[in-house]
Amino acid sequence: TCVLTSLTGCLSSEERRKETGERDVYELYIACDSQEDTVTGIFMNTFADILEEKSKGRIIVNRYPNSQLGGDGEIAEAVQNGNITFVVQTTAPQVTFVPEAAIFDAPMAFRNLEVARKVLDGPLTEELKAFYEPKNLRLLGIADQGFRVMSSNKNVEQLSDLKGIKIRTMENPNHIAFWKSVGANPTPMAWSEVYIGLQQGSIDAQENPVETIVASKVYEQQDYIVETNHILHTLTLIGSPNVIDDLPEELQKCVYEAADEAKIDARAQTDERSAGRLEIVKDSGTTIIPYNETLFNDMKNSSESVWTTLENQIGKELVDLLRSEIAKAETE
Ligand code: MLT
Repeated sequence: TCVLTSLTGCLSSEERRKETGERDVYELYIACDSQEDTVTGIFMNTFADILEEKSKGRIIVNRYPNSQLGGDGEIAEAVQNGNITFVVQTTAPQVTFVPEAAIFDAPMAFRNLEVARKVLDGPLTEELKAFYEPKNLRLLGIADQGFRVMSSNKNVEQLSDLKGIKIRTMENPNHIAFWKSVGANPTPMAWSEVYIGLQQGSIDAQENPVETIVASKVYEQQDYIVETNHILHTLTLIGSPNVIDDLPEELQKCVYEAADEAKIDARAQTDERSAGRLEIVKDSGTTIIPYNETLFNDMKNSSESVWTTLENQIGKELVDLLRSEIAKAETE
């Protein structure tokens, strides 16, 4: 909070712009709650590097990874009021601000990353941008950190194996409803408590991308990683509209170009790093249960009710757009 207060006003006020020669230099701020050695952290740094380079020294981006400025909710709020200029984070914690972001809570939606990325680059993201703006947030692009998968101390090869497993989830009602629908016993819990919860046995399982499972060393406390691929771990780059619109036009263009280039790089990083991350897990003695279409289909059929709930929450139109975009991407 102290750091946030000290940043207040840095961004929009004219007199804070430093003069170097005849040019204004703009000092901007970016944060994320993940460690730097994750695709989230890499996306953050790459965007900042590209933006600084494109601006030819007119923009300086101060970077705050690893929850230095608070958790995801606090950072998003600081972007809303312009104290932080940008954040890289997944959509799940944004549903409090932008309910339509829950579209990515739709479980078992994408059969592979190729389909997911085609959908993310299409009209669905354009529609979503319009829901962020009135909330004082600008959606600049969506990359991903791969799929969320389950890690567990119980082996899961078929749907019935999920019965009663105490799995930690984020505090997101759709995620909780999803795990209930497939027979598990979801327990929402702060991420910071998960490692100790697994160590002490208060939970049997958790779900996150392999990137996060490795960065947090959660695999040390788990016997299995089950490639359930149940939800895409989206990585949004969000900016403060007020701060961006206050920049000279040519620098605003740098922001949008840097966002596009950093998104493409983040996807490549996810692909390049995933095999290495799985090796780290295997070397530790944790067993990988590979993606299995029967399990995927069974989990999909069991969780249809969550899609209906989503229709009631955010409107059938948006959910139908997701359905049709998936169908289109699968046949392309
Ligand atoms: C969670 O499960 O709470 C998040 O995915 C963890 C993270 O943000 O790295």
